[in-house]
Amino acid sequence: MKIAILPGDGIGTEIVAEAVKVMQVLDLRFETETALVGGAAYEAHGHPLPESTLQLAKDADAILFGAVGDWKYDKLERALRPEQAILGLRKHLGLFANFRPALCYPQLTHASSLKPELVAGLDILIIRELTGDIYFGQPRGRRTAVDGQFPGAEEAFDTMRYSRPEIERIAHVAFQAARKRSNKVTSVDKANVLETFQFWKDVVTEVHAAHYPDVELQHMYVDNAAMQLVKAPKAFDVVFTGNMFGDILSDEAAMLTGSIGMLPSASLDKNNKGLYEPSHGSAPDIAGKGVANPLATILSLAMMLRYTLQQPAAAERVEAAVQAVLSAGLRTGDIWSEGTTKVGTQAMGDAVIAALTGKTITT
Ligand code: IPM
Ligand code: MN
Repeated sequence: MKIAILPGDGIGTEIVAEAVKVMQVLDLRFETETALVGGAAYEAHGHPLPESTLQLAKDADAILFGAVGDWKYDKLERALRPEQAILGLRKHLGLFANFRPALCYPQLTHASSLKPELVAGLDILIIRELTGDIYFGQPRGRRTAVDGQFPGAEEAFDTMRYSRPEIERIAHVAFQAARKRSNKVTSVDKANVLETFQFWKDVVTEVHAAHYPDVELQHMYVDNAAMQLVKAPKAFDVVFTGNMFGDILSDEAAMLTGSIGMLPSASLDKNNKGLYEPSHGSAPDIAGKGVANPLATILSLAMMLRYTLQQPAAAERVEAAVQAVLSAGLRTGDIWSEGTTKVGTQAMGDAVIAALTGKTITT
């Protein structure tokens, strides 16, 4: 097995370093190769996703990705911005199925901005379609308006679109995931306004009726879903939606659990080859300070062990080690609260390794 390591920008390098340390003590045989991506690759090679990095990602069985982006690249033309690297990897590798579990660890119930009773025991799985929708639809661009409210004015446009096969394949992923959990799916759309999402709803309804009548299916408009997520998050189990709504709702769901610094993700292709990355970004404001929370990346490694490398026992060991450091009271700044011990990125990684190797967790 070959794993491509793509740390990226900002805190990406710091958090990925900790996950790689964890990977090394697992005693599993795999080869790793590291490459530049995002702003770091732009600086070195003039492109956020150089051909060599893309090729490495294609050749690897799995990819461990940090984060990309920095405000200093905001003025670059879109094709050269760091974000294009992750979008390009998703598209070129066909990583259409994005799993973003939002789990509220018992040790962190009080880190959430919601009342503890609303989030205690929370366990939601957001399944986000990742290679379609308004993110990738063509045409897009700038032009002079020929109609609308201001003919002759400068305007910008993007295209929201989904084809039947795109919706069908992600619907299968969502229903199959639900069968391994509580057998319940909430499909989120905006069918009351958008034709794309009326189609989404129709296709999801058909796939459900034809193949998964045993799974409970509920349809919900995205605005209502955003509200219900903070009103009664535990009413959800699998939340399944398109690329754009999934982007927004997954950040919201992440915060329910206390910190986006805890949330892993997996982006899979049709053969379960995957890219694994924390759900958070490159956080340039805290980059280089050694304070970022590496746990989302370490938990992303656990997802890699489970989904791509077929090592469920190792995945469970890593997850148990994360729980152990939380139980020992170690916290990075994002999840710190009165009475716990604040530690930096490396100390957190070292503590996970201590837990994994049966050593005492020291602070
Ligand atoms: C995410 C990020 C990306 C997205 C950005 C960095 C392109 O916000 O993975 O959620 O919008 O998908
Ligand atoms: Mn996002």
